[in-house]
Amino acid sequence: MSTRFWRIIKLTALLEVLLLLTPLLPAGHLVRAQSDSDGYTRVVAPILRERCIACHNHTTRKGGLNLESYDSLVAGGRRGTPILPGKSGESLLLKFIDGTMQPRMPLGDALSDNEIATIRSWIDAGARGPASEMAKASATPAPEPARRELPPLMPSRPSASPIGSLAVSSDGSMIAVGRYREVELLDARTGRVRQTLKGAGEQVRALGFSPDGRLLLAGGGSPGQFGEVRLWETAGGTELRSWRAHRDNITAAAFSPDGKMIATASYDKLIRLWDAGSGAEIRVLRDHTDAVFTLAWSADGRFLASGGADRTVKIWDPSTGKRISTLGDALDAVNAIAFDRSGRLLAGVGADRIIHLWQIGESGEGRRLRSLIAHEDAIVAVTFAPGAKSLATAAADRSLKIWDVATLTETHNCEPQPDWAQSLAFTPDGRLLLAGRFDGSLGYYDPATGRARSANGQTR
Ligand code: HEC
Repeated sequence: MSTRFWRIIKLTALLEVLLLLTPLLPAGHLVRAQSDSDGYTRVVAPILRERCIACHNHTTRKGGLNLESYDSLVAGGRRGTPILPGKSGESLLLKFIDGTMQPRMPLGDALSDNEIATIRSWIDAGARGPASEMAKASATPAPEPARRELPPLMPSRPSASPIGSLAVSSDGSMIAVGRYREVELLDARTGRVRQTLKGAGEQVRALGFSPDGRLLLAGGGSPGQFGEVRLWETAGGTELRSWRAHRDNITAAAFSPDGKMIATASYDKLIRLWDAGSGAEIRVLRDHTDAVFTLAWSADGRFLASGGADRTVKIWDPSTGKRISTLGDALDAVNAIAFDRSGRLLAGVGADRIIHLWQIGESGEGRRLRSLIAHEDAIVAVTFAPGAKSLATAAADRSLKIWDVATLTETHNCEPQPDWAQSLAFTPDGRLLLAGRFDGSLGYYDPATGRARSANGQTR
């Protein structure tokens, strides 16, 4: 068919969607759209339902992505949120359906140009969702729709971009918050932003302070293109170095406990070890058969653990790059792992909704200690409290829970989260639990009571 014909079809689709979606959101705002519109329900959802949900539903979740609802679409899959409102060109959803990213979606017959144009226009017009699912959004200070059962958020930055990573310095003075293309350094005592570090490509998915707190490490990149590491000096915020470390987005990055090495993991199935001083590659750890999502060092630096889409957790000897053991207990993708401070207890969580606890022996072999179905949907984050007596988990059902490690019993089920808390961190004194959420807000909890706090630890 002639290109002119297609141009008319596209224009028609564009006009139709634009009419449906006015007034427009300011382009480039990485926020969930706010006001109601039928655009999603009338034009986008039918395409997704017909062409995508066979493989992207709450049970199948190919690529970690569920396309059954607006909410689950925005929550995204393995690579994070697939839509950046106002930026179709940078949105994964579009890259996958127009073939910029492979495998082209849907697997099988491509969408028609018309369908692709419809989705593109919807994204460029702000990617609004249906009214019923918009109550949690907070795009503009305009009158808020009812927040229903949810308690007031910490409106640290109401229109901030999603929090993809969190780190607390080992002296407890600084908090780093990884967002879209930037990292905020907060003063831990007040929760105020001290400095904003720019330059990161797309969503910052991993953050870590060097043990002495002098350096901050960020991992991110561009899905399907490259994974990038960036290092800043925390004192002045000067960027020291950045390098392309992987062929796909970085999912996890961490300094070794002695600060000499950096480990990075990526969708490209690889883990790489780097010299923290020079940025030179030391070795590549290959054995995962699918994307690696998470990394953790044991406190003595003797072991590096990793987990990912291949449902396994692996324990490595970082000094040789040899794999010591593979823990195959998870029933689905492993999203997050954490060592306790002894380095001999490892927790792993993921799409199977289970907390797995393993004991790691002197030579790095793992033995399953306990497991428990802990949430009603995929668990997205896990972290030990500094004393290692308790453990916090957050899940896609928006619950945030605190557990007693010895018995693996729930001690607190915190307030429902306004959105996924993809990153969790305790302060080193164990007095606060931080939850970095997809809607851009940062929550603070008292782990002793499970109650919300303000940044300085006061009752709200
Ligand atoms: C026949 C099954 C199938 C259908 C139908 C399908 N997908 Fe997929 N999709 C997959 C698989 C498998 C993956 C994982 C591919 C990979 O990561 O290598 C995937 C991954 C994706 C991802 C990347 C998710 C992430 O975060 O990594 C997106 C976005 C996506 N699909 C969108 C769509 C859309 C939109 C449609 C409908 C237009 C669709 N898919 C239809 C099987 C399917």
